[in-house]
Amino acid sequence: MRAEPQDFSRVLSSMCTEPHPVAREAAEAFLATNPGDPGTYQTVAELETDAVDALGEIVGLDDPHGYVASGGTEANIQAVRAARNLAATEDPNVVLPESAHFSFRKAAGLLGVELRTAPVDDDYRVHVDAVTELADADTALVVGVAGSTEYGRVDPLDALADVADDAGALLHVDAAWGGFVLPFTDREWRFDHVDADTLTIDPHKMGCAAIPAGGFLTRSPEVLDALAVDTPYLESTDQATLTGTRSGAGVASVVAALEELWPEGYREQYVRAQNNADWLADALAERGYDVVEPELPLVAADVPPTLFDRLREEGWRISRTGAGELRVVCMPHVTREMLESFVADVDALRRTVSTGD
Ligand SMILES: Cc1ncc(COP(=O)(O)O)c(C=O)c1O
Repeated sequence: MRAEPQDFSRVLSSMCTEPHPVAREAAEAFLATNPGDPGTYQTVAELETDAVDALGEIVGLDDPHGYVASGGTEANIQAVRAARNLAATEDPNVVLPESAHFSFRKAAGLLGVELRTAPVDDDYRVHVDAVTELADADTALVVGVAGSTEYGRVDPLDALADVADDAGALLHVDAAWGGFVLPFTDREWRFDHVDADTLTIDPHKMGCAAIPAGGFLTRSPEVLDALAVDTPYLESTDQATLTGTRSGAGVASVVAALEELWPEGYREQYVRAQNNADWLADALAERGYDVVEPELPLVAADVPPTLFDRLREEGWRISRTGAGELRVVCMPHVTREMLESFVADVDALRRTVSTGD
């Protein structure tokens, strides 16, 4: 094969990043292992327990249960599946913010669950009153986002926990992207502060593990029991994951990355990323663009479509929010130098766009 993967020097839109060298090495070493068959692949199965314990520590969960999923999509699907399986209704629904990741739409389609979408306020956080109104006796799950995909916002999780409680539903917190940065902000978001039942936290995003490495966590073993099916032909007796055979590469790389980076490495990474996001937000605001304040290291700015298209032609990998804003995710591979070069291109191109050259 002749193909080479892209390098990251112009990638500003991705929520994944270059794996840390130790994570890459661990992934390569465990490429031919299958934690889906833990009786046979025992070392990687033990590593998965370490990975879940370490992820539990990040979110402040003493006795975490869960597994290393293929990503946030699988973890979110599993949260919906567990809630549906545990719900005492024939007609379950899930109440979630309009800012929730599109993986919940896949979950709803697969699982035959109704989605009830609550609007967000002017600061992109879900309206708790709307969630309260939408929740009823058939609500199996209430979803809150801790680090939304488009604006990096955190929903009022405590209030959502109360709504879920009143409705007799589970609360799922989607911290797929935010999970590795929120512990270093001054937010009270930890699992032990918010009465969440399940949580998504993806090491292959801000955790610098190799893809595929998502995290599905729960405080209660019953949630995993609700997902488990019997596995007659394997050495183990049941399986709670959505996929069967799955790569041990992700599992090993999670353990390696966490051993290397938790907590100080991730703290430094967050500070660098946040400073970069603040710098870029200021630079774009100074040039007259409306910028959404980056509470976490993610910048959205109202840049004209023609300029956006020219930047893409220059090779910048950038994306748009649903509302059409330029969206830049300050992942660990995004350096200040890269952003300076990006802003220099903004300056050069906006002149040609305005003069029509
Ligand atoms: C908040 C959130 N949840 C879930 C996902 C889905 O994760 P994955 O692409 O790893 O399946 C994403 C992806 O960006 C996300 O931002």
